[in-house]
Amino acid sequence: MRQFFRWGVRHGLIRWSSARGARAGEVTAALMVDPAYALDPFPHYETLRAEGPLYDNGFAITTVSHAVTTAVLRSPDFGVIGGYSGNVPRWLLLAQAIGGRGPLGPVEPPSMLAVDQPDHTRYRKLVSRAFTARAVAALRSRTEEIADELLTGLERRRDVDLMTEYASLLPATVIAEMLGAPVAMSRQFLAWGAEAARSLDAGLSLSEFRRSERGLRALQRWLEGHFAHLRAHPGDDILSTLVHAQSAEGKLTQDELTATAMLLLAAGFETTVNLIGNGTALLIAHPEQHDRLRAEPALWPNAVDEVLRLDSPVQRTGRVAQRDTVLAGVRVPVGKPVMTLLGGANRDPEVFADAERFDVGRRPNEHLAFGGGPHFCLGSHLAKLEGEIAIGRLVERFDDLALAPGFEWGASLFRVPGRLPVKFRAKG
Ligand code: HEM
Repeated sequence: MRQFFRWGVRHGLIRWSSARGARAGEVTAALMVDPAYALDPFPHYETLRAEGPLYDNGFAITTVSHAVTTAVLRSPDFGVIGGYSGNVPRWLLLAQAIGGRGPLGPVEPPSMLAVDQPDHTRYRKLVSRAFTARAVAALRSRTEEIADELLTGLERRRDVDLMTEYASLLPATVIAEMLGAPVAMSRQFLAWGAEAARSLDAGLSLSEFRRSERGLRALQRWLEGHFAHLRAHPGDDILSTLVHAQSAEGKLTQDELTATAMLLLAAGFETTVNLIGNGTALLIAHPEQHDRLRAEPALWPNAVDEVLRLDSPVQRTGRVAQRDTVLAGVRVPVGKPVMTLLGGANRDPEVFADAERFDVGRRPNEHLAFGGGPHFCLGSHLAKLEGEIAIGRLVERFDDLALAPGFEWGASLFRVPGRLPVKFRAKG
């Protein structure tokens, strides 16, 4: 019963009102709940763009404008939705109280993604050193080894679903090693993660919500046991540092420690998989761009940015006005949610010439695939390194890479193939 209330507050209300809006033909509502819209959101982003920089459906403002998205994500007038506590109707607070607290999750306070400063700054400081460009560059040769090991395992195969056999395993192995979690657990993390990752989305059905809480609970239980192990046997990894910050230095509470670790794990293995899948699919569909990369390998980092722009792995995020403010000349009252559609902002013709075109040489490329402002993706350097190595090694080692029947997009806030079956010939 309590779980039902939790679902109602977090997802049920949005689902119900979006379903109503979608039936009435309202685009932003349909993008939330109609799989047909989520499978190919791009024409619908253009419908919104034609309405101007802001589109208000009465409940929330939505934008596909690059300038407005950047302004919202950077502005102190807007805060994260999960952490917002002002101006909430009483009946909603009551429903929240009845629902109680579910398992900790990557998008619930006290996760870094769901709190504003000063807590946000405190959490982020503890982990940011491990994700700087310099720290990540040191992971290059190990990441190449992991890619090569996985590809060697595929060599004798003819038909492979790249999503399950490669794109998901590479980032899962890298983040498990970085965090000091047993690499043999990677597949188990992925299984829990597949359930838990749904919690990042809004408007889940009750059964999806139950599955996501089950995954989160399993992950939380495992992490708490692992922290006990690290307290006794600390290593040279991020989780050991966090455990030390919690128990020896008192810089984190137990919940903050668990939420931070869950976010790093979830972000580490649920997002880069999309970049690898999308990049592979784009290169297969655009052989002339692949030829260009063969001729100019120095363009690879550029190509990864272009994949992130054109098929942004995270299609949307949102904020809420913390005070009365003005956006694109329009008054926005305190408490009003603003949905920033990153995938639409990244095709804004005001910023990107020929925005629908895949161009591995595109420069400059000021995409917003990693968000912006204080919550700008902590793992951006890692994600780009993994994307470059994973896609680069794959197309280098396997000739005649082609889609096999069964390719399909997934439908969620993530842009990611549900299945990416390919055929290839191993070189040599
Ligand atoms: C292609 C892969 C990735 C994409 C597209 C991506 C995208 C994003 C976006 C859009 C945000 C901001 C969300 C918001 O403002 O509401 C974000 C935040 C974050 N990302 Fe990533 N991410 C990726 C990979 C990673 C990786 C590999 C990690 C590392 C473990 C990571 C860790 C984080 C963390 C910790 C935050 C929260 C930062 C904060 O709140 O200060 N991400 N990511």
